[in-house]
Amino acid sequence: MTDAQVHLIDHPLIQHKLTLMRQKERSTNSFRRLLGEISMLMAYEVTRDMPTQLMEIETPLEKMQSPVIDGKKIVFVSILRAGGGFLDGMLNVVPGARIGHIGLYRDPKTLVAVEYYFKMPHNMQDRDAIVLDPMLATGNSAVAAVDRLKETNPKSIRFVCLLAAPEGLKNLREAHPDVDIFTAAIDRGLNDHGYILPGLGDAGDRLFGTK
Ligand code: URA
Repeated sequence: MTDAQVHLIDHPLIQHKLTLMRQKERSTNSFRRLLGEISMLMAYEVTRDMPTQLMEIETPLEKMQSPVIDGKKIVFVSILRAGGGFLDGMLNVVPGARIGHIGLYRDPKTLVAVEYYFKMPHNMQDRDAIVLDPMLATGNSAVAAVDRLKETNPKSIRFVCLLAAPEGLKNLREAHPDVDIFTAAIDRGLNDHGYILPGLGDAGDRLFGTK
């Protein structure tokens, strides 16, 4: 088993946009647009070592073998519901990707993840899965999602979030040391309700304007 890593994607453009997202007065519209922009920028790093294959093409001058990614081999796995905010930006960059969904909610008392939906494309053994959830807080949902995803036997799994708490990183890395984690920031910790501090609040509510 390879030892996966935590990749902190701290490009100044991402940091700037993340700061704007954290502001409590930021509108739903603006929050959503910024998350879309950040996810496009993060997609570059997340797909950096994706395998390519050579395709024969013709330039105006001659034939050549030129590299392409097989987008259909990538599956973006959106953790409902806030993962949807990451999905659009990623799809702008990898439009041919397949999409899976995992529905999980956090029991507000125990903070344990409860599954209510699971749908993946066929032939997962041929595909690289990229799990999307903006907030890696306790890590319970992430661990449950990756547990479930591994039952479909994908070629590889990466986990992408916007913000991570040290507790969530530790939990996910201990449970799934083979999964690379990509995050734009590692925050200080969690409050008693499992929210990331300083964080940005409830990502789903801010994204969908439900509070
Ligand atoms: N989920 C959120 O939306 N925000 C947090 O801070 C933690 C989990």
